[in-house]
Amino acid sequence: MMKKLIAPSMMCADFEHLKAQVNALDAAGIDVFHMDVMDGHYVPNVALGVEDFKAIRKLTKTPMDIHLMVDNPDDFIAIFAPMKPQIIYVHPDTVPMVTRTLANLKDLGIHPGIAINPGISFEQVQELLPLVDYVLVMTVNPGFAGQPFLDYTLPKIKRFVAVQDEYPFTLFVDGAISPERVKMLSNLGVNGFVVGTSALFGKEQSYATIVSQLKEQ
Ligand code: DX5
Ligand code: ZN
Repeated sequence: MMKKLIAPSMMCADFEHLKAQVNALDAAGIDVFHMDVMDGHYVPNVALGVEDFKAIRKLTKTPMDIHLMVDNPDDFIAIFAPMKPQIIYVHPDTVPMVTRTLANLKDLGIHPGIAINPGISFEQVQELLPLVDYVLVMTVNPGFAGQPFLDYTLPKIKRFVAVQDEYPFTLFVDGAISPERVKMLSNLGVNGFVVGTSALFGKEQSYATIVSQLKEQ
């Protein structure tokens, strides 16, 4: 069983105490800081921005990803690339020539990822699988934390699991990922989990307790 990867969704963090939050998450052993960036158009919300990314980048050496829920992701890549995120996820339906965008990320030394909406099929993105290092399957409609899990995404998740040894990608899921769902999905073969309010933030237990429990699931 591969090591579970835990990516806290930082739009859910307490920004009044950002330094303490980042230090506690690092001490808890998280693997990637997940940075949701939205344009208020592709999804009806905004979430995090350049200053949030820079602030967290200064506080930690841990990898950071950027989840671009935006139209025209190439414009946002030009803005964020100089800040050296390790991973950038684009939604393939937001750019006509997504293969060029993914190649550009590789040329920039950034791991390319695709984020797959609940309404996008496995077949629609299968051609992209040799071009990406990460696949983020959305288990909610993107744009907000705290939404209900969409069970109909499970057959698609199983399709990605079934081919993950044939391609270079690491599979993550994103949206309403509770501890119970980490257990269920890791039993299906998923290794990467974006966790926000469903499993990590706003809970009684410490991040260290929660993260170690999630990794043991
Ligand atoms: C939703 C974001 C997720 C979300 C996760 O568009 O991509 O990262 O913040 O938060 P929960 O776990 O509360 O769904
Ligand atoms: Zn996200």
